[in-house]
Amino acid sequence: MTEEINLTIDGIPITTRAGTSVLDAALENAIYIPHLCHHPDLKPVGACRLCGVEIDGGRMTMSCLEPARAGIEVVTESPEIALVRRTAVELLIANHDMDCLACAAATDCELLRLSAHVSVQSERLERLKGLTELKPVDNSNPFFSFDPNKCVLCTICVRTCEEIQGVRALALINRGYETVIGTFGNKPFIESVCESCGECVVRCPVGALAPKRFQKPAREVQTTCTYCGVGCGLYLGVIGDRIVSARGDRERPSNHGQLCVKGRYGFKFINHPGRLTTPLIKRNGEFEEATWEEALDLVAEKFSQHKGDSFAALASAKCTNEENYLIQKLTRAAMGTNTVDHCARL
Ligand code: FES
Repeated sequence: MTEEINLTIDGIPITTRAGTSVLDAALENAIYIPHLCHHPDLKPVGACRLCGVEIDGGRMTMSCLEPARAGIEVVTESPEIALVRRTAVELLIANHDMDCLACAAATDCELLRLSAHVSVQSERLERLKGLTELKPVDNSNPFFSFDPNKCVLCTICVRTCEEIQGVRALALINRGYETVIGTFGNKPFIESVCESCGECVVRCPVGALAPKRFQKPAREVQTTCTYCGVGCGLYLGVIGDRIVSARGDRERPSNHGQLCVKGRYGFKFINHPGRLTTPLIKRNGEFEEATWEEALDLVAEKFSQHKGDSFAALASAKCTNEENYLIQKLTRAAMGTNTVDHCARL
C-alpha cells in the first residue's frame, strides 16, 4: 500500500501519496499552480519554468519535478515567483500567433488561461518579440494540422509520441528562435513515420496541433469502437443525428483513453448516405427493405433447417468481445457444431 504523507501548500494542510510531485499534489487538492509542459500521462521535464514554488523558504524550484515530502511547506505565490512566471508567459505570447478566434483550442487554451492568471503586460510584448517570420503551417496530414506559429515548445507532443505511442515521429529541431517541433528531416507530417493516431493532438495545450474538422458536440454517447477486437472505449460526440467527434474513454481498461487513427478519425462512414441502416431481404432476385422482425424471423427459419456440421459461423471483429462470445455460444450450444471462426487477425 502506498504511504500517505502530510504537507502544507499555501498554508493549507493536504494529504497525498508518497512519490507524487508537488504539482500533482496541489492539483489533486484543487490548488492551481500554473503549468504548461506538465501532463499527467507523461514524465515531467521541467521545460516551461512556469510551475515554480518555494519550499521551506528555499529558492524557487519546479514543482513538477519536485517530489512531495512529509512535513514540507510549499508556497506557490511570491513576488519572485510572479516575476519569473509573468516573464516566461510574456516570452511565449510575444511570438505566438494570437489568432485566437480562428483557433481550434480557443475555448480550451492553456496559454490563454495562463496569460489571464499572470496578468500579462501587453506593452512589454512588443519589446520581447523575436525576429521571426511566420512559419508555414503543415496541412499535409488529412486529419490534423500543425501550426508552428502557435507552438510553445512544451514538448508534450514529442513525449506523447515517444512515451505513449512508441513511434518517435517528432523531436525538437533547430536552435534559438528557430527551434520548432518537427519530424525527421523536417519533412511534412504525412511523409514521416507518424501514424496519425492523434494522441499528440488531444494533448496539445494551445491548438498548434489541431484537428482539421472539429465541431463541439451537443452531447456525447459512451460506446465501444467497432474497428477491431481490442474493444476500445470511446465517447462519440453528437449533434442531432450526426456524429461529429470521438474521444477515448480514460476509464476503459482496454485503451485507457487512447485511440488509433481509425477509432479517433474514422467515423465519417456512420453518417454516409450510402450506408445500410435497414435490413434487406432478397425477393424475386431483388433486395427489398425489410423490418428487423422480418429479417430476424427469416434468419431463425433458415437456422432451423441446419444442425451440426451443415452449419458454420464466421464472427466479425466489428462486434464486441461479448457479442462474439454469444455467437460461439449459439454455434456450439444451439447449432451443435464447433465450426466457428472470427475474422480478426491482428
Ligand atoms: Fe513544471 Fe513546466 S510544468 S516546468
